[in-house]
Amino acid sequence: MADADDTRTGEMLGGRYKVGALVGKGGHGEVYRARDTVDGREVAVKFLAAHLAQDNDYRVRLAREARAMSSLNGVGTLEVMGILGAEDGTPCLVMELLEGCDLAEAIASRNRLRVRFNLDEVVTLFSKVVSTLEAVHALGITHRDLKPSNIYLVGRKMHDPRIMDFGLAKVSDMQQITADRMLAGSPSYVAPEIWMRGARNADHRADVYSLAVVIFETLTGDVPIHRKNLGEMLMAVTRPGNIPSLQKIRQDLPADIDDWSKQAFAIKPEERFQSVVGMWRAFRAIVGK
Ligand SMILES: Nc1ncnc2c1ncn2[C@@H]1O[C@H](COP(=O)(O)OP(=O)(O)OP(=O)(O)O)[C@@H](O)[C@H]1O
Ligand SMILES: [Mg+2]
Repeated sequence: MADADDTRTGEMLGGRYKVGALVGKGGHGEVYRARDTVDGREVAVKFLAAHLAQDNDYRVRLAREARAMSSLNGVGTLEVMGILGAEDGTPCLVMELLEGCDLAEAIASRNRLRVRFNLDEVVTLFSKVVSTLEAVHALGITHRDLKPSNIYLVGRKMHDPRIMDFGLAKVSDMQQITADRMLAGSPSYVAPEIWMRGARNADHRADVYSLAVVIFETLTGDVPIHRKNLGEMLMAVTRPGNIPSLQKIRQDLPADIDDWSKQAFAIKPEERFQSVVGMWRAFRAIVGK
C-alpha cells in the first residue's frame, strides 16, 4: 500500500540523506529519521503531504520562512537545513533531529498518571516558548498552527522547548476550515477569526489565541473547547461564554486567572492581548511567578 508505514525507508535524498525509520505522521506529512552521508549526522526529514507538495507558492513561502528561521540562532526553534525533492518529486524539509518528546505526548502521559504540571514547570516552559515566538513575530512570521505536537521538549525537559513547523499551515487551505483539517485533529487551537474569515488575513494575534489554548491544556490536561463536529465547534469558538473557568479546574490558581482567560481567548483579535509577551506578562503577574 502506498501509505504503509516506513514506505520511504532506504530512499536517498538529494544524493546525500539516507532515509531511516518513520518517526511519526501528522496533518502535513510524514517525518523520518535520516543520516547525512556527508558528515554522518542524524537528521529528521518531513515528506510533505501531496496536497501541499503540488503548490508552488506554498513551497516558495516555506523555503523563505525556513531561511528566516535559520537566522534566529540561539532561539527555541529548530535548525532547518533546507528543502529537497524526493525521488518522486515530493518536497522534503530536512531539519535537525530532536530527541525527547513533544508536548502532546507529555500532556498525555501526565493525564494517564493523573498528575498535572506544576506552575513552576508551566512557567519554565512557556517563558521560553514566548520569547521564541516573540522573536519570530518580530520577523513578521506567524506560526498559524501552534499546538502541543508542534512544541518539542528536548530531553523531555521543560527548559528546552523548540517550536516546530513554522509556516507549514497552508494559508489558502485555511480560508475555510475543511473536513480534512477537522480530521487532522487540531481545530481546538484555531483562533476564532480564522474560523470566521480564514487564515489569509490573520496575524500574530491568532498565535496569541492558540498559545493560550496550549497553556490552558498544559495546566488542565484538556483544551478549553472541543465539540464533536465542525459546526458545533464553529458555534462554540465564535460565541462568548464557552471557555470553562480555569480557576474551577485548577484551584491552586487565583480567581483573577479567569480575567486572564477572558482576554487571552477574546473572540475579536483587537480585544485580545496584542502580543504573546503581553499575554504572558499578565499570566505571570496573576500567578505571582
Ligand atoms: N525534527 C524532528 N525531530 C524529532 N521528531 C520530530 C521532528 N519533527 C516532527 N517530529 C515528530 O514527528 C511526529 C509527526 O510530526 P508532524 O509535525 O508531522 O505531526 P503533527 O505535529 O502532529 O501535525 P502537523 O502536521 O499539523 O504539524 C510528531 O510526534 C513530532 O513530535
Ligand atoms: Mg508538527
